[in-house]
Amino acid sequence: MRAATLTALVTAGLLAGASGAALAQGGAKVDFGKREYLANCANCHGLDGKGDGPYKPYLAKSAGDLTTLAKRNQGVFPYYQLIEMIDGRRLPPGHGRPDMPIWGADYLVKSARDYTDVPYDPELYVRGRIMALVDYIQSIQTK
Ligand code: HEC
Repeated sequence: MRAATLTALVTAGLLAGASGAALAQGGAKVDFGKREYLANCANCHGLDGKGDGPYKPYLAKSAGDLTTLAKRNQGVFPYYQLIEMIDGRRLPPGHGRPDMPIWGADYLVKSARDYTDVPYDPELYVRGRIMALVDYIQSIQTK
């Protein structure tokens, strides 16, 4: 009897886990990097990444064209520089981008807000969001 109850519980748990995983994968694929980009970057960098978002008139300096990063770097996508640029927390003094938000710090604040009841490494959360963004930006490079 107890074994049967345990089996039922384990099965229910597995089913819940499976449906949770299915939900996470979403049936329809979710491009997390694109979603992140549209939510946090498109206002300045534009829907297509070309730097003509609705905030353009309010920026002292034009937000760069993110689709030509590889082209402007001898055809090599500047993967690691991009991680550092988006993170923004490790730039030496005087090398900051005053018009560009410090996303590393912003995500760190959000990590504390989003994960209140489970142990987490806030740096992993920050890294994950930035890596999704970098992958998306790589996917929109012009040849
Ligand atoms: C409030 C406006 C604003 C938002 C929002 C914004 N940026 Fe920027 N970004 C800028 C500006 C302005 C520059 C140019 C700064 C400079 O050249 O000093 C820039 C520069 C950059 C550069 C360097 C471009 C180059 O040509 O070298 C990258 C990469 C970048 N942003 C990525 C992002 C990403 C990814 C996001 C979203 C997480 C984002 N930005 C959100 C304003 C913004």
